[in-house]
Amino acid sequence: MDSKNFIFLLVLTSNYVYFVTASFETYNMEVIDGKIEHLTFHISSKDTDFGNKTMTTNGTFRWSFRRNIGETTSFRGEFFWMNADGTPLQEVDFNIFNNDVAAECGQDIRVDHNCFWLVTDTGFYFSKDTPGNWVFKYKWPLNA
Ligand SMILES: *[C@@H]1O[C@H](CO)[C@@H](O)[C@H](O)[C@H]1NC(C)=O
Ligand SMILES: *[C@@H]1O[C@H](CO)[C@@H](O)[C@H](O)[C@H]1NC(C)=O
Repeated sequence: MDSKNFIFLLVLTSNYVYFVTASFETYNMEVIDGKIEHLTFHISSKDTDFGNKTMTTNGTFRWSFRRNIGETTSFRGEFFWMNADGTPLQEVDFNIFNNDVAAECGQDIRVDHNCFWLVTDTGFYFSKDTPGNWVFKYKWPLNA
């Protein structure tokens, strides 16, 4: 195991010494625009704000981070399906990364985890490891 993935907390009590390990799992995230011609999204966390990103069909956006020790790392994603004239047609926001997503993407501290979100006209799909094991998660508000 790679020691950079751990912090060691030495806990002393009157009778015992404990080593407590806390993880810093690494996540590589990727958002793929699978079908929306004009997609804008805004991904942010407590410490990070990527601003509005715009992309067209087949565009991708990637970022990586280490989860914090308290497992409070979360990223919010606001997605805007845009009209050609630049006005939003539909919008959705949800937690693109949180503890539930971490549990689904993997929490082995020895390896990087690759997590993918695919955005299409039918909604939002999640896949771990490779972009292909798509699991439907959210729909656009106006979809039946
Ligand atoms: C991002 O774009 C959307 C849709 O046009 C807009 O409503 C929102 O205010 C923009 N957000 C930022 C931070 O620029
Ligand atoms: C997106 O990628 C798919 C699969 O490679 C391709 O069939 C399609 O033509 C691409 N669309 C655009 C707009 O680039």
